[in-house]
Amino acid sequence: MSLLVPDELSGCAEKLIRGRRATRAFSPEAVPEETLRAIFSLAGAAPSNSNAQPWRVEVVSGAARDRMANALRAARAEQRVSADFPYSEDMYTQVHQERRAAFGAQLYGALGIGPEDHEARAAYDAESLRFYGAPHAAFLFVTGDGGARLAADVGAYMQTLLLAMTAYGVASCPQGLLSFYADTIRSELGVDEGKLLVGISFGYADETAPVNHLATERAALEAVTTFHG
Ligand SMILES: Cc1cc2nc3c(=O)[nH]c(=O)nc-3n(C[C@H](O)[C@H](O)[C@H](O)COP(=O)(O)O)c2cc1C
Repeated sequence: MSLLVPDELSGCAEKLIRGRRATRAFSPEAVPEETLRAIFSLAGAAPSNSNAQPWRVEVVSGAARDRMANALRAARAEQRVSADFPYSEDMYTQVHQERRAAFGAQLYGALGIGPEDHEARAAYDAESLRFYGAPHAAFLFVTGDGGARLAADVGAYMQTLLLAMTAYGVASCPQGLLSFYADTIRSELGVDEGKLLVGISFGYADETAPVNHLATERAALEAVTTFHG
């Protein structure tokens, strides 16, 4: 028997997908281990090219999470930056940059940080290395040659994981910023395999924080989708 009942499922999907949002303030309360296991095993149902499942996932909680946050802040202070995936502002088109600027204005506006206040923005970045106060963080590594095709599979895993968390009432923030400290993270975890794509802070949302009430917009359907035929 199929589990899929279209009307019910589309309603759930609307709620689940639109209900997920990046959360940047958390309660310190830990997610129970049983819930963690349910979430991460559900995320493992993500699709990948030929079912290769080229992801490797490392989760830190408790003392391991605290040690990681300290190591990240030390790496930042000492400017020990190491990114496995190259980054350049040039990768963005003008329309991408416009969307990014609109998002930045929204985020820093909610935080009460002015557009020219570079010091406050840098301080907020540094603070975000403490996982926005979340009690857990997951690090997603791309195994194999770590090329674009395998990274895309890990992107699919990431979104599946974020939705699995949402379904279990767990809030999250994917943080590309964490990927700029790949060597520090590998060394803290004691792993040497894989390229670090992204880190995800997660836990229960602090619903009282204004930063958690950002409603980000999306491009219109027609701007990004063409139906042929
Ligand atoms: C790959 C990736 C990297 C991201 N990196 C960061 C980050 O470093 N810091 C941060 O606060 N948010 C980060 N975000 C969250 C985005 O800003 C957020 O997803 C986007 O603005 C849309 O908002 P929403 O997730 O609330 O719908 C990242 C999201 C993705 C998918």
